[in-house]
Amino acid sequence: MNKSAITAAPIMPVLADRWSPRSFDANYKLSQHELLSILEAARWAPSANNGQPWRFAVVNRGEALFDQVVADGLSGFNQAWAPRSSTLVVVSIQTKLADGRENNGALYDAGLSVANLVIQAQELGLHAHQMSGIVPAGLSNAFGLHEDIRPIVVVAIGKVAPADQLEGPAYEREIQPRTRLELDEIVLHGKP
Ligand SMILES: Cc1cc2nc3c(=O)[nH]c(=O)nc-3n(C[C@H](O)[C@H](O)[C@H](O)COP(=O)(O)O)c2cc1C
Repeated sequence: MNKSAITAAPIMPVLADRWSPRSFDANYKLSQHELLSILEAARWAPSANNGQPWRFAVVNRGEALFDQVVADGLSGFNQAWAPRSSTLVVVSIQTKLADGRENNGALYDAGLSVANLVIQAQELGLHAHQMSGIVPAGLSNAFGLHEDIRPIVVVAIGKVAPADQLEGPAYEREIQPRTRLELDEIVLHGKP
């Protein structure tokens, strides 16, 4: 199944080849080196005023907390496929600045950090799949998060596996071609 992006000009292979599978190898475990590398990539993302409002909680398949994240922290659709991933990274934002004001840029900064994480996983021969279909209260409860720490996304990471181990809507989506809006639709001015 070729999922590489079809682009109008060459882009870095790691960007073109990244995609979000739902079929993961349920026997693969991330090594400590892979996990460290992925988290370091996330850590070195840029952020406004170097505020670094991202926070991560990492659970591996086989741990009780992994099962709790799936059961209490994911939507029903995501519960159908995410358990086969190797590792779930719960991404939260620190919603407040040091002076107590709301950090209105925290979501943007955290998105940059997760982009780094996802691309580093791809560079290591892994795949990552972000999920906003989550139950924030269930995730906060699982990790005893402070009220200023808000879960925003869970990222499933692992080795991609053949699509035919999936069923129903997850299988249907797995075999769809990847699509994007055309540049004409998203570049409002100055398209080359
Ligand atoms: C912020 C965000 C939230 C997402 N939430 C979900 C989700 O809850 N469940 C799911 O199956 N996919 C989810 N996705 C995956 C998107 O559907 C996917 O990235 C998009 O269709 C583009 O496909 P690609 O990543 O393979 O290029 C999410 C992606 C992002 C970036």
